Amino acid sequence: MNDKPVVLVTRKLPDAVEKKLAEQFIPLLNPDDRLYDTGELLQLAENADAILPCHTEKFDADTIANLPARVKAIANFSVGVDHVDLEAARRKQVIVTNTPDVLSDATAEIAMLLMLGAARRASEGEHIMRNQLWKDWSPAFMVGRQITGKRLGILGMGRVGQVVAARARGFDMTIHYHNRQPLNPDHAGDATYHDSVEGLLANVDVLSIHCPASDATRGLLNRERLATMHRDAILVNTSRGGVIDDDALVEALQTGVIAAAGLDVFNGEPDAIHPGYRQLDNVFLLPHIGSATRETRDAMGFRAIDNLVAIFSGREPGDRVA
Ligand code: DGY
Repeated sequence: MNDKPVVLVTRKLPDAVEKKLAEQFIPLLNPDDRLYDTGELLQLAENADAILPCHTEKFDADTIANLPARVKAIANFSVGVDHVDLEAARRKQVIVTNTPDVLSDATAEIAMLLMLGAARRASEGEHIMRNQLWKDWSPAFMVGRQITGKRLGILGMGRVGQVVAARARGFDMTIHYHNRQPLNPDHAGDATYHDSVEGLLANVDVLSIHCPASDATRGLLNRERLATMHRDAILVNTSRGGVIDDDALVEALQTGVIAAAGLDVFNGEPDAIHPGYRQLDNVFLLPHIGSATRETRDAMGFRAIDNLVAIFSGREPGDRVA
């Protein structure tokens, strides 16, 4: 690289990442971690050769069309890229990258936490403890469901799904999955493939969602599909809220169509999520923290930098998605 390219960094990144970025680029940082609106973003981008955003910044077709010609790349600090209109980026010849692989362990941990939290009624337990409501113990008190030995369904057996399967095997769970295509035996191991979403849902006790949000998966977990699940089933989502029809899931949880849910991602996050979830005891809720470990956040940043270095050295970035 000749002159250092300027990179607009939309959110506060880990110190180590900001330091490393500054070795090869001129970063325009956001030390206050303020969420820029689109107007501000476009204005700041006037001085940038690339943008390093998070999923909190939306790059719809209009925003991409209005990006200054100087901006050559959007190097996301995320594996999910549903916040970027990839087709619009291709039209404008803006390179888009993401950060796969490095989040798989952290996200799988949160999926297990959600499974356990939903199964063992962690929200109710926390509420009781924090509000001094614990008055007695009895064999009937706070009885939940056991996940050990149960059937786990993985919807989207990609990188994260495969790590979740590995962790769940430690709980003696049997693994079922649905993908468009079966995995090769090296990746699938002993997991049972279902060639339809419905086939998977009908055959599992716990469902963990790992497919990306796209036009094809929006509202995939709708009323009809939820109705095919077992009444004792638990649904866990660490992917994107868009995969779920919230009205349908809230109703299913209220009426006992399924037993419980553990959710880390939501339509309308952070402040406009379906209000029904907050009213339900049988939901364990977290604020989109699947990748929120120090190790992973550093690794995501380094991966985004690697992509930028490749782009500005005239090489193909490893994680190009558009
Ligand atoms: C991701 O990387 O997609 C996480 O959800 C955080 O954005």
